[in-house]
Amino acid sequence: MRAPAIIWGLPLGVVAVGSNLPCHFKPSPNATAENHPGAHKHGHTESFPYNLNRLSEVPVATICTSNNGTEELACARKYIDAIDEQLAFLYARRLGYAGVAGHSKHRAGNDLNDPSRNEQVSEGMAQRVLKYGGSLDAGRVMGGEGCQIYASLEYEVANIQEACDPDFNEEFPRPCN
Ligand SMILES: *[C@@H]1O[C@H](CO)[C@@H](O)[C@H](O)[C@H]1NC(C)=O
Ligand SMILES: *[C@@H]1O[C@H](CO)[C@@H](O)[C@H](O)[C@H]1NC(C)=O
Repeated sequence: MRAPAIIWGLPLGVVAVGSNLPCHFKPSPNATAENHPGAHKHGHTESFPYNLNRLSEVPVATICTSNNGTEELACARKYIDAIDEQLAFLYARRLGYAGVAGHSKHRAGNDLNDPSRNEQVSEGMAQRVLKYGGSLDAGRVMGGEGCQIYASLEYEVANIQEACDPDFNEEFPRPCN
């Protein structure tokens, strides 16, 4: 906690401006401990088919097997919507950590984009998704291959601009549209 000590050390009446203090990731006001998919204040929690707080309650998709195609499709969509709520929460949390990593690299004077790390992350996600019963290729895209890493890097740039340095910019190759 170096920053507070520096602020307290200033003479009274002197405003501590950002420039000589280390500048860090600034989360969205929506990123709070209370704002998670299983929270009761979340409103539509009750309409989800399982407890979104518990990963072990996410059923295998055969739960929707039915000879009635209309019912089967509606069931699949209900579970997709529930899982999307969980994925969105985790992804927003994950973006926060990408934002922290971006700030760390920026303060060290390094590029945010680190292609060899990007490759490791997408390959790691591919292997994890395979382990849980999905496919390597779907996991690789989810892990950042293509547009996803570009959008995440843009998020990091925007946070550095907003929190620390309005003039900061870094261009990234965008391998998709
Ligand atoms: C917070 O979430 C609401 C929707 O629940 C959204 O409309 C709003 O833009 C979000 N605010 C920020 C700063 O992301
Ligand atoms: C299939 O399910 C839907 C929705 O419950 C129902 O309206 C429809 O009649 C069913 N179709 C058959 C062939 O049973």
